[in-house]
Amino acid sequence: MKTIKKHKFGNVYAYELGYSAVGRPLMTVNCYVVGDILIDTGQSHMSRAVLDIVKAHKISAVLLTHHHEDHSGNAAVIKKAFDIPIQAHSLTIDKMKDSYKIFPYQHWVWGATTPVRLDSFIPDFYEHENLKFQLIHAPGHSKDHSVFLEVNHGWLFSGDLYLGDRIKYFRADEKIEEQIASIRNVLSYEFDSLYCSHNPRPINGKRYLAAKLQFLEDFYGNVSILADHGLDEKKIMRQLQLKEQRMIKLICFGNVSMRNMVRSVITAHKN
Ligand SMILES: [Fe+2]
Repeated sequence: MKTIKKHKFGNVYAYELGYSAVGRPLMTVNCYVVGDILIDTGQSHMSRAVLDIVKAHKISAVLLTHHHEDHSGNAAVIKKAFDIPIQAHSLTIDKMKDSYKIFPYQHWVWGATTPVRLDSFIPDFYEHENLKFQLIHAPGHSKDHSVFLEVNHGWLFSGDLYLGDRIKYFRADEKIEEQIASIRNVLSYEFDSLYCSHNPRPINGKRYLAAKLQFLEDFYGNVSILADHGLDEKKIMRQLQLKEQRMIKLICFGNVSMRNMVRSVITAHKN
């Protein structure tokens, strides 16, 4: 089953895309359109819909927040069909020039990403009509993760930096200390709208992102105190009453879990 919902936040359009082989989609992802710029390209299972969006809005350039398959899944087909620049951080360009392995659940939920030659982001500012984008590298969710700030209107296209005030799981390669540093840095910029790929907050976005920072800092503090007392991952989870989202963990073959969040704190705290 495929779902496409179009949301309008002033001059910003969000296309919420969902796909499921069986039943209703469990997860959706947003691609954003502002003027003739597309931010992120959705999952490859939704390639036809995304190509239609590119055509309908006469998209002239694409900005990519990071290489994960629900954001970059249609970069290659867009490049092939329209030959327009798809700009990204140099680490995203490196990651996407060759194919890389993903888990079966990633194939199932989002679809694979095809290798593609991306374009460099114009350093500091990308200007187009009355839009002025700035790339801010914001690692932690992934090494290459970046956000795009539209400075004239105060819109932050935040990829997977926010997701929610409180989060319940990490992928195995996420780094909490980098996420905390990235959010602190991003909060030093001026913006009000937080266009998260999974959870848009068009008003008071800065407050929502600050709440996420507070949550991560508290989590870090609580886990590291118990680690200092010699408790292992399991005992820390029990002490803090942290529960696994069992279904998510099962579907994702353990690659996504609360335990990964705890482990990330312990690893960072040791170093
Ligand atoms: Fe991601």
